[in-house]
Amino acid sequence: MTCGITLKEKIIDLSDMINDPFKGKGGFMPDKIEHKVMVRVGLNENLAFPENLIKKLIKQVAGRIDPRVYPEDYCDSLCDLISYDYQLNPNQVVAGNGGDKIIDLMVRLTIKAGYFAAIVYPTYPMYEHAVKVQGGDVTELFLTPPPEYDIDPDYILSNIKPKKDKLLFLCSPNNPTGNQFTKDKISKIIAEFPGIVALDETYTDFGGYSIVNSLKQFPNLIIMKSMSKFHGMAGMRLGYALADEFLIARLKELLPAFNVNIASLELAKLVIQEKIALKNIVENIISERDAIYDKLTKLNGISPYKSFTNFIMFKIDNYNAADVQKTLLKEKGVLVRNMSAMPLCENCLRVSITTKENNDVFLQSLEEIMQELG
Ligand SMILES: Cc1ncc(COP(=O)(O)O)c(C=O)c1O
Repeated sequence: MTCGITLKEKIIDLSDMINDPFKGKGGFMPDKIEHKVMVRVGLNENLAFPENLIKKLIKQVAGRIDPRVYPEDYCDSLCDLISYDYQLNPNQVVAGNGGDKIIDLMVRLTIKAGYFAAIVYPTYPMYEHAVKVQGGDVTELFLTPPPEYDIDPDYILSNIKPKKDKLLFLCSPNNPTGNQFTKDKISKIIAEFPGIVALDETYTDFGGYSIVNSLKQFPNLIIMKSMSKFHGMAGMRLGYALADEFLIARLKELLPAFNVNIASLELAKLVIQEKIALKNIVENIISERDAIYDKLTKLNGISPYKSFTNFIMFKIDNYNAADVQKTLLKEKGVLVRNMSAMPLCENCLRVSITTKENNDVFLQSLEEIMQELG
């Protein structure tokens, strides 16, 4: 070797060279699944979206795309449709590779080392993940204790760190608790928070309300939506943000080139136009959800929380929730999510509301396991 040192001789401490926010202990993906899943009700996917309809639309997409060429740079044709539905200007929409990409973008826009994002726990864990990846810190705030899980604007506003907290995440309806905060409370917080508010409205289609028409009033508000839930497109990865034109232009500047693939883009345009089908799907999910909630309230040892989403969180009163979750999977093939590690969610599981068949198997399996446990 000309330089006289072999690679072996060079002692390289890789940890000094990488951005290592989690030190091998982080990562976002849910736990590894070791058993065969028969009923997939852990990730809030929309399996009530008819398979034959999605396959029909996929065939149309296959006929109209050419994967050899790059997609539209900023998904303008999709943003046009979205803005029309919300009666906004197309420049008020930015689309990205899943809701998670939008979360990442909002964090990149506002956070750098030394800056804070305020997060109201328990909530969607990706907010914290994105802030830490970006080198920021989190101001931890909390909802009121269960069963209300409500938001208290006075508490939030008096516990943020002015000047340091650049971003505040609100999720309404909230994951995993399923409840929606009142417009008045949300509006008070947005009006008085001295930074950007990222309001996650991923679940508003399931019986909640949206505050998109308040965007004019709040120049510091970014509303984000995902097409994984209501639109049944979790595997295609599409999300979008709605905000004032200034903020949208700045978010677009942070996007990687061509960040939404051509198939997702075309499918999203077709799905959005399936208005009647979407309405029927969501009505079915809502009526199933409310029926399941009622049945859960009658099950011994189970305390469900009222939901305005496509999932229900419930507490296991007298047994270990992790054991119940494992037994459901091992003995019945039913995969629900254990939320117990989240603040205020001790011993809680979360079930997604999907097809009637899945919902029935879940309920029956849970009932049998609770009976076995005594
Ligand atoms: C509240 C909330 N926001 C955002 C997302 C991310 O959605 P996507 O699948 O589009 O990345 C999820 C997914 O579960 C969610 O629950």
